[in-house]
Amino acid sequence: MLRVDLADHNHEGESNMSQTVIKVALNGVTGRMGYRQHLVRSILAIREQGGVTLADGTRLVPEPVLVGRNADRVEAIAKRHGIEHWSTDLDSVLADPEIEIYFDSQVTSARETALTQAIAAGKHIYTEKPTADGLDAALGLAQAAASAGVINGVVQDKLFLPGIVKLRRLIKTGFFGRILSVRLEFGYWVFDGEHIPAQRPSWNYRAQDGGGITLDMLPHWRYLLEDLFGPVSALYARQATHMPVRWDENDKRYDATADDSCYAIVELASGVVASLNSSWSVRVNRRELLELQVDGTNGSAVAGLRECSVQPAAVTPMPVWNPDLPDANHYLTQWSDVPEIGVVDNAFKTQWESFLVHVGERRQFHWDLMEGAKGVQLAELAQESSANGHRVLVPELVVPEFEAVR
Ligand SMILES: NC(=O)c1ccc[n+]([C@@H]2O[C@H](COP(=O)([O-])OP(=O)(O)OC[C@H]3O[C@@H](n4cnc5c(N)ncnc54)[C@H](O)[C@@H]3O)[C@@H](O)[C@H]2O)c1
Repeated sequence: MLRVDLADHNHEGESNMSQTVIKVALNGVTGRMGYRQHLVRSILAIREQGGVTLADGTRLVPEPVLVGRNADRVEAIAKRHGIEHWSTDLDSVLADPEIEIYFDSQVTSARETALTQAIAAGKHIYTEKPTADGLDAALGLAQAAASAGVINGVVQDKLFLPGIVKLRRLIKTGFFGRILSVRLEFGYWVFDGEHIPAQRPSWNYRAQDGGGITLDMLPHWRYLLEDLFGPVSALYARQATHMPVRWDENDKRYDATADDSCYAIVELASGVVASLNSSWSVRVNRRELLELQVDGTNGSAVAGLRECSVQPAAVTPMPVWNPDLPDANHYLTQWSDVPEIGVVDNAFKTQWESFLVHVGERRQFHWDLMEGAKGVQLAELAQESSANGHRVLVPELVVPEFEAVR
């Protein structure tokens, strides 16, 4: 890290702040997530605000080094944002001792190889989920990072969404009483691309290219459920490919070999039962694209990406089943919104800031490759359950031994 003492003096004339620049290789910045969420809304926004503050008062400022396959596209992004360093040669980037962090938001199928290489080169690792396309590979990465003593982190952005922050506040303050169940609805209509271009990349719909909603979304649901409600213990899942034919970025018809929907029932160790519907073949009839309804003895809540509404026990209406008469209850108006308290920043940026602080202070990061492996495990178990039609238990994973952080 390059340390610079800033000309910032306190009243006694002593310098009280220094700035350290840390170079971060970002691989996959031409993609949707890599560009918008990680480069623009996280790394560049953090650089713009002057970095993050470490415990000793140092400002740690990330300096991006863009990595990608297509020189024209990577260079164009670098120019657009005034970024000095970019490359199409991952080997030379990883060989550069000045670069301390490797970040990966490539397509899922390219991740394991690149992370393995970056860990071997001694880089600290931050990566999009899923960390790999199977549990063995995900555990291998966690073990390799632990043996190398590198700090490692996996994107778990949903934990930092404003709606989830409100839901967590309700749980912490005991709003629900005893929590009974969770209903998670995620999804929207992804156009098949025939007449209207699809709004998501086509690889997501091809199993051979690392696609599939189970592998994509179950990792999110694992950390979200465990953070809010505790460990998961068993699941039953049913995958489906409702739309077997789609059209790609070049208007070419292709077979959609991956699952576009996954219906799962997850049991938690606490006795809470969660039903999780994830689908790219569903039209939205909700306030937000992701919603979790939580029902408890003392009240219920529906949390989305930004909003969260509640219905306490004392104001719960009494529905009576009678299809012969119009229902006097207007159910959706009987909920009140949880107010905003404080400013909640971009979820990806919030987690990046925390990761950078951990690297700057040489501390292991909680949301690490082992946590990432748990997400891949739930996806793999859902695939197994769907294939054999059985309920499956979720075995505990063995945490690898960590070497001291370098
Ligand atoms: N955290 C989240 O909420 C979230 C949301 C969407 C996607 N993701 C994850 O982020 C990763 C990237 O997803 P995306 O939607 O940005 O994808 P994308 O298709 O928009 O971008 C993929 C990137 O990978 C690069 N790439 C490297 N090797 C490639 C290859 N062989 N084929 C095609 N592209 C290749 C592309 O150049 C591009 O930069 C995926 O692993 C996905 O699971 C996470």
